[in-house]
This record gives sequence, C-alpha cells and structure tokens, in this order.
Amino acid sequence: MSAPSNPDSNNWREPLDCLCGRRLTLVVTGGVAAYKAAELARMWTRAGAEVRAVLTENAARFITPLTFESLTGQPAFLDAWSRPQFEIEHIALADWAEAAVVAPATANFLAKMAHGLADDLASTFMLAVRGPKLAAPAMNSRMLSAPATQSNLTTLAGHGVTIINPGSGRLACGQSGEGRLADLETIALLTARSLGPQDLAGRCLAVSAGPTREPWDDIRFLSNRSTGRMGRDLALAAWLRGATVQLVAGPGLAPPPTLPDFEFRPVETTAGMLEALSALDFEALIMAAAPADFRPAGRVAGKIKKDSPALTLPLALNPDILLSLPRDRQRLYIGFAADDHDLVNQAQAKLKLKKLDLVAANPTGGPEGAFGADENHLRLVFRDGRRSEITRRPKFAVAWALLDAVKTLFPA
Ligand code: CTP
Repeated sequence: MSAPSNPDSNNWREPLDCLCGRRLTLVVTGGVAAYKAAELARMWTRAGAEVRAVLTENAARFITPLTFESLTGQPAFLDAWSRPQFEIEHIALADWAEAAVVAPATANFLAKMAHGLADDLASTFMLAVRGPKLAAPAMNSRMLSAPATQSNLTTLAGHGVTIINPGSGRLACGQSGEGRLADLETIALLTARSLGPQDLAGRCLAVSAGPTREPWDDIRFLSNRSTGRMGRDLALAAWLRGATVQLVAGPGLAPPPTLPDFEFRPVETTAGMLEALSALDFEALIMAAAPADFRPAGRVAGKIKKDSPALTLPLALNPDILLSLPRDRQRLYIGFAADDHDLVNQAQAKLKLKKLDLVAANPTGGPEGAFGADENHLRLVFRDGRRSEITRRPKFAVAWALLDAVKTLFPA
C-alpha cells in the first residue's frame, strides 16, 4: 500500500487514495439501502480503485447493475445462472477481488454467509473469495436484534469477517432504532484498513492536532494558522496501519466518521488539550498540534465594545503541554518544531528541553511553510543521535513516512 496524495483539507475521504489501483468487489443485497451502495462504489472509483459489483436478485429490485457499470466503468454481475460461463465465473471473480464488501447486508444474506450456503452468484462468490471480507448489515432493528441474526454475526466475526456495525436513526420501515447502514466513509475507510499493512497493529497512539483557541471575550479569541491536517493525517495513517488511535484536536477539523479503534476528542484551549492528553493511556504520543503559547490574561464576559477603554490585550503564558506531561520511559514522546530558521538546531534544543524521543522540524514560513499548506517537509532529529529528512510531499505521505520513523523506536 502506498501513501495517498490527494490534497483536500478537512476531508476524511482523502486517505481513501490509498485504495488507488486496488481491486474491490461490492456485493449488494436486497434492502432499501442498496441505493447507497452506488455512492460507495463511486467513492472507491474516485479514489482510483477498480470496483466490480455483484447484485443479488432482490438487490436488483432496488437498483440495477447498469447503475454500477456506469459509475465504475467495470462489469457488474447479477444472476449466476443466466451466464454460460457460470462454472468459472464466481471463482474468477473471487480470484480477481482483493477485498469483498457486502453493503448492505440483509439478515438473509448474513445467514447464508454464516452457514456457507451458496445458491447464487453473490453467495458462491463470498464463499470462494480469499481476501478480507467485510459486511455492513442494514435492516429493521428487531430483525437485527433477533437471536438468530446476532448469532450469525458472531459466527461471521469468528470466521474473520469484519462486521461494520449499523447506525441508529429512522429506518425504512418508519420505525427508529439501530439498523441503518453504517456511514459510507466508515465502510470505505474500514475497507482501506483491511488492505493496509497492519504493521502498527496492537500499538496504541495518541496524536494531537490543530491550533487551540484562547477566548478574549465571548466572541473573540487568539489562535494561529494551523489547520490540524498534519495531525489528522498522522492519526488516520496510523489507524489504517492497524493502530488504536486517540486524536485530540483543537477547533477546525471536521469530526471523523465513527471508526472502531479511533477516538476523537475535540478541545478548545491549550489547557483543555493538556487536560485531555493527561487522561490518555498510550504507547506513543505524537504532538503535531500547534497549541497557543499565550492567552488573554483575563476572559471578558460578553462582547468588548469599540468604545471600551480597555483596548490593550494583556497576555498570559500557557502551559507547555509536552513539558507538563509526566514522563513515563515506557512511552514514546514525539514532538514537532515549528520554526522559521535554523530548523535542525532548534529541533535538537526542543528534543533536549522537552525530553523527547524524536522531533520533526517543519518550516513556518516561506515557500516551504507547513501551516495551512497541502505539503510538508520534515527534518528529523532522534534522541539516539540519528538525523534524517522527509522531503517535501503531500501531508498524508509525510505522515506515512514519519510513522515509518516512529516504528523504529518501539521496543522489539
Ligand atoms: N507544544 C506544547 N505546548 C505548547 C506549545 C507547543 O506541547 N504550549 C509542543 C508542540 O505541539 C510541538 C512542540 O511543543 O510538538 C514544539 O512546539 P513549537 O511551537 O515548535 O515550539 P515551542 O515549544 O512553543 O517554542 P517556541 O514557540 O519558542 O519556538
């Protein structure tokens, strides 16, 4: 899997570029949510994946194979028996697919999968496919909670199928409850993760991202130009590689879709970020955030009027988060250094002062400036004396390469 490169800030679909060139088969079964599968196929196709759809006969009552063929530019498949080459078709399709995703998955299809029933193209394909299998159930909440469905889901999870939990809300039957097809971003990102290298599986990472905001009055604040994108990309890249991730982010980042092993904690101020990080358990902390170093010395209630006599802004120093967090030598602490000159020496000084294992120095200004940019360029300074460089490239690719460096620091 190579690091993706589509620059588009604040968009959790961006890392799907890592699906570029991958071969995915989407199995669509017969529920109302079948129409959403078309958008999923389009999302993957836009990311550069080759997508083939297999529809059950009941799915084809809701949506046609032609819809998928038009969106993906690939053949879509329906009835096994109508094609003379059937004997080899499900096997050929299964050989072609790197991953198979059933979305939406009906109770009936899950039951067939759980028990190895294979009486149409979709079910024979699922039995024969070798790569990762994922299933996103969508159905009425009573059907979902029925002991038979729950037992089938447990069986499938035991067979290694990734079950993508449905969400709650208004269902097609008019009732409200659990059973809505999971967010398409969730399904798409879990598919990408299933094909990721998993070289950080079992690792627990905390990542900070973005600026903080320090309120002056009820509507004004001090902040900086950080977008949070470097931290977001580090968090997602680590998650795609199998890590459990906790992302503590200042204002500006859109909340991520619901993802297993991924926790998002929005904060506002530097003090809030320190409090959130202090409560976390982690093996490695990557401080990619740009917390505000200063705050207005006193917060004014209401709105400061133009004719107010107090138009000077007294500042107070904020806590330094990395300096304030107690050190645990079992853990790794990775900092960034944002400076406009003498990057490597500044990084070395921050490494020593803040007792870090690795500092990634990025420029603040000029044509190489990292703040608000799509790309970044890092100089790495390690506690063990090593130095290296990640040349200028899109931030997701930088995140991927920085994680390669972090990986070398974990004890074997
Ligand atoms: N950092 C922090 N708490 C702060 C400010 C910064 O933990 N209040 C972290 C940043 O997340 C980064 C590292 O410290 O990982 C270095 O931040 P940087 O802004 O480069 O430097 P500062 O330590 O703030 O020092 P200066 O502004 O003097 O360069």
